[in-house]
Amino acid sequence: MNQYLKHDEWSIVEEGFNPKNARASESLFSLGNGSMGQRANFEEKYSDSSLQGSYIAGVYYPDKTRVGWWKNGYPEYFAKVINSTNWIGINVVVDNEQLDLAVCKVDSFVRVLNMKEGYLERSFVAEMQSGIKVKVCAKRFLSMSSPELGVIQYSITPLNSNAKITLQPYLDGNVINEDSNYNEKFWVEVSKGLTSNGGYLITKTNKLDFEVGHGMVCNVSLDGKSIANVTNQDQSSNHVSCNYSSDVSSGKEFSITKYVAVISSLNSEKDNIRNAIQHSLDIALSKGYSTLLKEHIDAWADIWVHSDITVEGDVAAQQGIRFNIFQLSQTYTGKDERLNIGPKGFTGEKYGGSTYWDTEAYCLPFYMCTHGQKVARQLLIYRYKHLEKAIINAQKLGFTNGAALFPMVTMNGEECHNEWEITFEEIHRNGAIAFAIFNYIRYAGDTEYLANFGLEVLIAISRFWAQRFTYSESKGKYVMLGVTGPNEYENNVNNNWYTSTIACWCLEYTEQAIYLVKKNDPSRYNNIVESIYFNETSEIATWKVIRANVYLPYDEKRKVFLQQEGYMDKEQILVKDLEPSQRPINQKWSWDRILRSCFIKQADVLQGIYLFEDRFDIETIKNNFEFYESRTVHESSLSPCVHSILAAKIGKIDQAYSLYLRTARLDLDDYNKEVHEGLHITSMAGTWMSIVEGFGGMRIQNDMLIFNPSIPKGWKSFSFKIWFRENLIKVKVAHEEIIIINEQGPSLDVKVWDKPLCVNSSSLIKI
Ligand code: BGC
Repeated sequence: MNQYLKHDEWSIVEEGFNPKNARASESLFSLGNGSMGQRANFEEKYSDSSLQGSYIAGVYYPDKTRVGWWKNGYPEYFAKVINSTNWIGINVVVDNEQLDLAVCKVDSFVRVLNMKEGYLERSFVAEMQSGIKVKVCAKRFLSMSSPELGVIQYSITPLNSNAKITLQPYLDGNVINEDSNYNEKFWVEVSKGLTSNGGYLITKTNKLDFEVGHGMVCNVSLDGKSIANVTNQDQSSNHVSCNYSSDVSSGKEFSITKYVAVISSLNSEKDNIRNAIQHSLDIALSKGYSTLLKEHIDAWADIWVHSDITVEGDVAAQQGIRFNIFQLSQTYTGKDERLNIGPKGFTGEKYGGSTYWDTEAYCLPFYMCTHGQKVARQLLIYRYKHLEKAIINAQKLGFTNGAALFPMVTMNGEECHNEWEITFEEIHRNGAIAFAIFNYIRYAGDTEYLANFGLEVLIAISRFWAQRFTYSESKGKYVMLGVTGPNEYENNVNNNWYTSTIACWCLEYTEQAIYLVKKNDPSRYNNIVESIYFNETSEIATWKVIRANVYLPYDEKRKVFLQQEGYMDKEQILVKDLEPSQRPINQKWSWDRILRSCFIKQADVLQGIYLFEDRFDIETIKNNFEFYESRTVHESSLSPCVHSILAAKIGKIDQAYSLYLRTARLDLDDYNKEVHEGLHITSMAGTWMSIVEGFGGMRIQNDMLIFNPSIPKGWKSFSFKIWFRENLIKVKVAHEEIIIINEQGPSLDVKVWDKPLCVNSSSLIKI
């Protein structure tokens, strides 16, 4: 762990500059607005270790696959949302010496991410090698109300001497990805130019021809008064800059406001990008900094009205959940159906910004309940549109008859993951996609979605499962060979309990969905049957036989489901007996040692129990929780949230709380020693679940919201809001009472602790 940030309810605060934390802070203080995002790199030069990252949603590069041993079926490329033009840059020169925090002495450094209003501020005093001290204040935001705009206000004040200061704002397309497979440069210049107070740069990706234009316009002032135009301008390959120089007296402030417009060919005709940049910058200039900031803050206020979670009495817990909600909201807004949620969002290169099962298994509930059901539907439509490619993907692996295997990692529906034990074997992702359809329909009641989109996906997934099971003569059962469950610290196992369980559930739910659509919309059903050559009688009959005869490993002695066949052959050591110096094991142990150990990377059996909770009695949940929690190292960010929810369910509130902190503050406190690579955006939605479904005990049963709340002892109260169908419901839980407020929509029947309740405007329940 690395705990260097101050606890604060609405802000992330770093005091003092420690170069060792520079990369971590670049991740933690990231900004985004759904359309673009960036790591918190400094505006001025920084010559020490830094991961520069500025990303544009949906603009990616198919980086040619690089593997040691090629396997048939591997994809040709890995899709990456790539680092693009650095538009925040402002070089600062003080009497011929460049400001660089890696070189000068830094004092009074404070960096604040204001989550309520969505901006990043930084201030410090730097002593240059010449002995001149300067005070610098910088503030920037990526507009939530005009998603193509970013604005920076940067000021410098010499403190102990007059100085000649040059501010040099620039746009620089000479950027690379650290994780590029062949050190390729991904961008080439299309055009560039200078204007009276700025310039523009249009670049295009070497492959796929995405074009992105960045334009800047700057206002400069000295001691509060605007000063004349640029003193010098410069253009070189993939780069434009302007120089603003002035003699600045000691104590006077020299400042620049840099407005930047970012337009990509995803949202504009290529030959109109230049005009679109100009248009957007004209509007930005006419509104001015204060108005743009106000519009941005208002947009954030709208987001918080529906999504905020309050925790009274525990600042660390409060900060954690707000940080998670903030990052999720700036990663994906649900406005563009071509986009999805990369595991690291806009905060790092790992995972390439592509789509994983994380979206369906973790993110969907958060966006559905806080950003609205339309957003959830949008996420499902994204996969629906990839169905054909998922069928082709399965065909490549030898499956037939319209069976679909959705990719482990994708940008456009094509698989781009390339480790056989995951690409070909971590097939439980198909289950998460089917479960998301079920979850959305149970929550939103949108059966029209099922008929028009969902059912085709479900049938294709079920066809895959039906072919993926094998009948074992020796067991007299259907088995699933050669799979990797969510716990990636086991590969190529037989009969992974989670995978087989979710596969059977898919077969069962698809059957129910078929009957529902057939009843409600027979003509649509007939269309589906014809278009995919669906043989209802024989296919459903096969699914039934498999479900009734599946082999699910179970340990009679311990009364637990076995993660996979043979799990008990491993030496059984508990996490509590591991030397702290050996953790995280993925950074300390060989892969071979990890595979042979009993340690679990992330919830696997417990993931299944979480999804299908109603099928298990409380004793079963308890046994499995105790057995698996004590063997889980939680080295996947997706793990502790599920354990926290189950701990709350079985009444282990203290444990639920410490698991909650582990998910909520995973990045803020760097539990897994990897925050420098970027934030764990998708698991942040799991943090939200651990409050709403864990402590809030929220579930949907028979079209009704139910709550079984509990509260950690250190909290005075907590509250959350959810959109449920036409209603906006606020739930506040304290030790003695639960308050449910119906903020919008007709009166609603809910249940609290099994007690039916009709919520009109405000209902108070005493415990
Ligand atoms: C996890 C996967 C997850 C991926 C992206 C991996 O470490 O094991 O389950 O999909 O990260 O978040």
